[in-house]
Amino acid sequence: MALRLGDEAPNFTAQTTEGTVNFHQWLGSSWGVLFSHPKDYTPVCTTELGAVAKIKDEFEKRNAKVIAVSVDPIESHHGWVRDINETQQTKMNFPIIADSNRQVASLYDMIHPNADDTFTVRSVFIIGPDKKVKLTLTYPASTGRNFAEILRVLDSLQLTAKHKVATPANWVDGQDCIISPALKDPEMPALFPKGSRTIKPYLRYTPQPNK
Ligand code: BEZ
Repeated sequence: MALRLGDEAPNFTAQTTEGTVNFHQWLGSSWGVLFSHPKDYTPVCTTELGAVAKIKDEFEKRNAKVIAVSVDPIESHHGWVRDINETQQTKMNFPIIADSNRQVASLYDMIHPNADDTFTVRSVFIIGPDKKVKLTLTYPASTGRNFAEILRVLDSLQLTAKHKVATPANWVDGQDCIISPALKDPEMPALFPKGSRTIKPYLRYTPQPNK
């Protein structure tokens, strides 16, 4: 069955380009981003892995570890990493899981037979320090992902885990947030000392509380 938000992220042990990884142990107390690639030596995947390698420090700033998965074997991954480094002018700096037995693809329901019965779609899972699934995204093989969006979601998830706010459409870190509708007006001054704005009783804004 497909994984849903709030489910525990399945654990696995797998070979990766950085050695054998037990997923939960490897995550430790970090946030995690697990993202799948249909196949090695494919153009869109090559650009995606290069793009993530270039912004790995942005994930680190957010206490998040990134790990990719592709159904090809480890020898293939090692050769592909050389190509990624060469063509994307970067140095791969995070592991790629060799999932030739489809263990991870199957645990995370990454093969969608009506799209392709062999290769994975482009899935993204954000996993919290509690090992629960916080976000799932599914893209077709033909569309490369926007990793600025993944960072933006991490910012929102980390903010809303600590403060009684939600983030509005197209929000980016630093912008005003929406006050949780469950909060009563008299509770707001103590929680939001920077103030609040009421547009409608259900639509109330406050400056980002952790800035
Ligand atoms: C790609 O990564 O370029 C790709 C992979 C599978 C199908 C189409 C494109």
